[in-house]
Amino acid sequence: MKKILLIGQNGQVTTYLQRVLAGDYELEVMGRNDLDLSDVASIEKVLEACDPTLIINPAAFTAVDLAEEQQESAFTINRDAVAAIAAYCARRNTPLIHFSTDYVFAGDGDTPYLESDTPAPTGVYGQSKLEGEAAIFDSGAPAIVLRTAWVYSNHGKNFYKTMLNLAESRDQLSVVGDQIGAPTYAGSIADATKQLVEKILLQGGLLDGQAGLYHFTCQGQTSWADFAKAIFVENEVNNINVNSITTKEYPTPAKRPAYSVLNVEKITQTFGISLPHWGTALAYCAAESKAR
Ligand SMILES: NC(=O)c1ccc[n+]([C@@H]2O[C@H](COP(=O)([O-])OP(=O)(O)OC[C@H]3O[C@@H](n4cnc5c(N)ncnc54)[C@H](OP(=O)(O)O)[C@@H]3O)[C@@H](O)[C@H]2O)c1
Repeated sequence: MKKILLIGQNGQVTTYLQRVLAGDYELEVMGRNDLDLSDVASIEKVLEACDPTLIINPAAFTAVDLAEEQQESAFTINRDAVAAIAAYCARRNTPLIHFSTDYVFAGDGDTPYLESDTPAPTGVYGQSKLEGEAAIFDSGAPAIVLRTAWVYSNHGKNFYKTMLNLAESRDQLSVVGDQIGAPTYAGSIADATKQLVEKILLQGGLLDGQAGLYHFTCQGQTSWADFAKAIFVENEVNNINVNSITTKEYPTPAKRPAYSVLNVEKITQTFGISLPHWGTALAYCAAESKAR
């Protein structure tokens, strides 16, 4: 049986990936106790001992605001550890699926970003993730980098859960309405990633022209304020009013991209894979919430 190494254990994407991959593959899941990405020197030995057929790395320093204070940790985990994983993959010709972010872009555009558009991160998190991408491509590893965005789910800390939690104690919420993106359900990421894994393993690796960078979000676009309203509709929360506010009225330590919609055509053209529209995926997530 082919062995997949999934790096990270309790994250949003890792949690849903475990659910969809377990049973169909020999899956080794490594939380930070098994593979600590902040200990870069230890990575090669752990990977050698595991000897996987394919590696999936959704693990990252994802605390966007904290990254401004903890720059060294962010670069160690998001760049240096990724470089070490990629070096192993290059040496062993092991396919790597790695996750990156819409925060590599400045967010000052108004049409969906292409993979060929020039990144210009505005904060430490985006810069560290961008340097992680570059380390992968420099290594020559057979790798696919999936840039996703606005990830939410019923697991972990995210906007979807925060809205539902706040609705339990409030009847008014102020939510930013001038940032536009594509909310992406971690369950949809996991389903589409599984399809990618199936193709790569069936082919026996990546074929010519398949390695590289792909945008990987749900389809469509909305604002945080309209996403909040949709979350309440899907979850039948009627006793709350969402007020749309501006980014200026909700300052954060790290600047957020105003517009971070990603053009997702390349992954469909290359692999025939797509994620659902954000509204459809939201209904899946809400159905999961209700089933809990
Ligand atoms: N969340 C978003 O809105 C968003 C948007 C765009 C892109 N992305 C990207 O998508 C990917 C998945 O995001 P997510 O929301 O699933 O992230 P998440 O829920 O914050 O999970 C982060 C994961 O990273 C692992 N991790 C952190 N530090 C580690 C360390 N030192 N050693 C080992 N593992 C470590 C955690 O491990 P443990 O389970 O052991 O704690 C956890 O599994 C990331 O690459 C992120 O950059 C996310």
